[in-house]
Amino acid sequence: MRKGVGTTITEHILRQQRQNPEATGAFSTLLNELIVAAKVISREVNKAGLVDILGDTGKVNIQDEQVQKLDVFANNVIVRRMQHVGQLCCMGSEEVADLIEIPSQYPRGDYILLFDPLDGSSNIDVNVSIGTIFGIYRRPETSSDAEVMLDDVLQPGNRQVAAGYFIYGSSTIMVYTTGRGTGVHGFTLYPSVGEFLLSHENIRIPEKGKIYSVNEGNYAHWDEKTRALVDYFKAKDRDTGRPYTSRYVGSLVADFHRNLLKGGIFMYPADLKDPKKPTGKLRLMVEANPLAMVVREAGGYASDGHGPILDIQPEALHQRTPLYIGSKKDVETAEAFISGRGD
Ligand code: AHG
Ligand code: MN
Ligand code: MN
Repeated sequence: MRKGVGTTITEHILRQQRQNPEATGAFSTLLNELIVAAKVISREVNKAGLVDILGDTGKVNIQDEQVQKLDVFANNVIVRRMQHVGQLCCMGSEEVADLIEIPSQYPRGDYILLFDPLDGSSNIDVNVSIGTIFGIYRRPETSSDAEVMLDDVLQPGNRQVAAGYFIYGSSTIMVYTTGRGTGVHGFTLYPSVGEFLLSHENIRIPEKGKIYSVNEGNYAHWDEKTRALVDYFKAKDRDTGRPYTSRYVGSLVADFHRNLLKGGIFMYPADLKDPKKPTGKLRLMVEANPLAMVVREAGGYASDGHGPILDIQPEALHQRTPLYIGSKKDVETAEAFISGRGD
């Protein structure tokens, strides 16, 4: 008797919902709609080479970066699909300067969705894996029923109720967690079934890895502590398994996912390359916080070099942060170098 298709993501979400006494099904509805959006993006990504969806739009976004057509497409798919689900009071996207309100004709809910619709944009037209990153918060009780204020959204990452990512690569994979010790689980999209099926149950990141991921092209822009840290991973020392192997794809989701499964550390340090971005390139709310929740739930750690990413009180929606994320021991080593505690 052929095995069935295994556990679908829908079954898995419902199982999680049953384990959570206060679950009302609202969250499951929200996540299932986000999954539909990801399937639509995955389909476009996988045929991107065939349609005019590659290349620049010629525009620059709030991040002062070239906007790729696929960035805009992915953003629009998520916004248009999620705004009528009835479970959100607002959204925040890497591609949109201000909070995205839910149009008045749609019902609202108590969740806030923050997302990077297309991560790894520089890799879109060279067929390297890219992805979508998301974090979900509850609207604070203190928030009035009128419109949602930015302060309601600027919550530390440790207040996320769920977080995860999709990778559009050799296969499309979804990894997510709802925290509370429920673990981190990965699902692979089976195009013939049109469903994400459980493929990586209860992912645990090795406590210490052998891989370091960083863009060494920024070496000249780093301070002494950052250079010393990267030199440490490259130095020979049999007892601590060094030198580590270098792996850098240039798509955060791809570099993070590899290190989550195999162990290792991803670093995007503060650099002096762009005076407008003194704290590095990556965004706290839509990149660092979601992945920091995933890695913590898988037994790893994420730091800005001085302390937990998840404890940072955000001041702005598009705030950037240095990011050291992955195997706990390796990130603690990074913290010791960057904060100077290792001297
Ligand atoms: P995005 O495409 O959402 O702007 O993110 C790109 C990020 C991240 O995916 C990756 O780790 C980093 O940019 C790579 O930056 P460099 O090219 O400066 O190394
Ligand atoms: Mn990104
Ligand atoms: Mn992006």
